[in-house]
Amino acid sequence: MTDDQTATAPATDFAVHPARGAFNAAFFSMMGPYIEWNVRRQKQRVFADLPPTVVELGSGVGANLRYLSPGSTLVALEPNVPMHRRLRAAAERREVRLDLRERVAERTGLPDGSVDCVISSLVLCTVPDPAEVLAEVRRILRPGGTYRFVEHVVARAGTPTRALQRALRRPWAWTFEGCSCERDLAVPLRAAGFAHVDIQPYRLHSPFVSFNTQIAGVARA
Ligand SMILES: C[S@@+](CC[C@H](N)C(=O)[O-])C[C@H]1O[C@@H](n2cnc3c(N)ncnc32)[C@H](O)[C@@H]1O
Repeated sequence: MTDDQTATAPATDFAVHPARGAFNAAFFSMMGPYIEWNVRRQKQRVFADLPPTVVELGSGVGANLRYLSPGSTLVALEPNVPMHRRLRAAAERREVRLDLRERVAERTGLPDGSVDCVISSLVLCTVPDPAEVLAEVRRILRPGGTYRFVEHVVARAGTPTRALQRALRRPWAWTFEGCSCERDLAVPLRAAGFAHVDIQPYRLHSPFVSFNTQIAGVARA
């Protein structure tokens, strides 16, 4: 897999907030084990048997490195530079070769049909336009390649969780750098032109109630 030399758009227009960028790096470092414990079963299922090279959207501080075998390569697209130091250290601990790129998921810079596997967790909630990211994932996957995801989504209309998501949407988005707890991600996933999409909804029982409605699945190009 090489860079697409024809990609002329800027790699990132991601604005790192001087305080919240560092806060989120520290938050996901500290809360990582707790979040991981909550979503481990879904991740074990969708991130099983990853190939030797994986592209990850928004790797953060490396929550998903544990699902790669030692010696494999992670092409990590992470525009938030305050995450990089911890991500590098985690890759070293897990003995994963890290190809870290300061790029947004909308513009990976990778050639058409060049990738076997793309993964993400808790990223489509944060990008400005999930449909644009999914079009990019679809473009770079080779036929038969997979996009494997674990994401939090909007709750069913009329439920107390939905009401809380509505009430918290602004402070939530402010704290977590644009994260929305009100996205129905199944819709853009099914509309993105994949040959097959498997989506499993599930519910966590964490104190972060607006984060508890989630989906995990695999989309095949
Ligand atoms: C909630 S964190 C999740 C991090 C990690 N995937 C995890 O599960 O712990 C969202 C991540 O998406 C990254 N991100 C935000 N906008 C992005 C974009 N347009 N392209 C790629 N990554 C982005 C953030 O920098 C952050 O690392």
